[in-house]
Amino acid sequence: MREDIVRAAQFFSADAAVVCLTGAGVSAESGVPTFRDAQTGLWSQFDAEELATPQGFARDPGLVWRWYMWRLEQLEAAVPNTGHAALARLAGLCESFLLVTQNVDDLHEQAGSVDVLHLHGSLFSFRCASCAAPHNLTAEQRGADLPPACGVCSELVRPGVVWFGESLPWDAVEEAATAAHRCSVMLVVGTSGLVYPASQLPLIARQAGATVIDVNPEPGPISSIADIFLQGKSGEVLPALVRAVADRRASA
Ligand code: OAD
Repeated sequence: MREDIVRAAQFFSADAAVVCLTGAGVSAESGVPTFRDAQTGLWSQFDAEELATPQGFARDPGLVWRWYMWRLEQLEAAVPNTGHAALARLAGLCESFLLVTQNVDDLHEQAGSVDVLHLHGSLFSFRCASCAAPHNLTAEQRGADLPPACGVCSELVRPGVVWFGESLPWDAVEEAATAAHRCSVMLVVGTSGLVYPASQLPLIARQAGATVIDVNPEPGPISSIADIFLQGKSGEVLPALVRAVADRRASA
């Protein structure tokens, strides 16, 4: 087994307090495109300003609606990969384990993770852009060229994701930041670490004395502050890490 994975495994003792921050990379091997990877990343093919801002939605709600319906279809076709499964298993090996994700898919939950904090909302929930009333989509509304009208106030319905320039769900941010202050291990998986405030969580943990472990095929801002950089795909690195943690326990 890789020496760096064995070294990382020693930090996951039975009484470890682990916070795991995931990004789009953890779902890449499930066929869900990331945002910033060259060529395949969504923001290298589409304009975030047009598609992921309140101003873009106000300018052209139909364009935004059709794009999110296309992404929703992609997410519904995706199944969890070995990285998602490994994180669900790792949680069971640690006394305290909080999973914080920037992803709007539900692949962590499908893999068996519980209590997942979604910092950027969910692409499976919809609400009114004006009065925030929740909205259940019909099949017809999904295929429509324009977003449906809210049943309460008749304004347009929007996806329940966080757009650029919008606030994140306050409770989730506060819980994640508090856990980052207190954790002994911050495991970061598949994020470019470029989007605030999620990008601050590894820094908070590091400043508070936690061990930061980064899993990513490419070096970046998180690997540069990490104590251990496990270079590789999460679907390969995480199962090996969990095996190493389980082996240590078995031989203790
Ligand atoms: P990015 O697309 O910015 O970064 C994806 C990261 O995953 C990169 O660092 C890749 O190197 C890495 N990666 C690619 N394949 C991987 C694999 N198989 N295993 C592990 N890592 C892999 O995605 P995020 O960091 O999640 O926000 O982006 C943060 C936010 O920016 C998103 O939540 C989204 C986006 O705009 C909103 O929509 C509000």
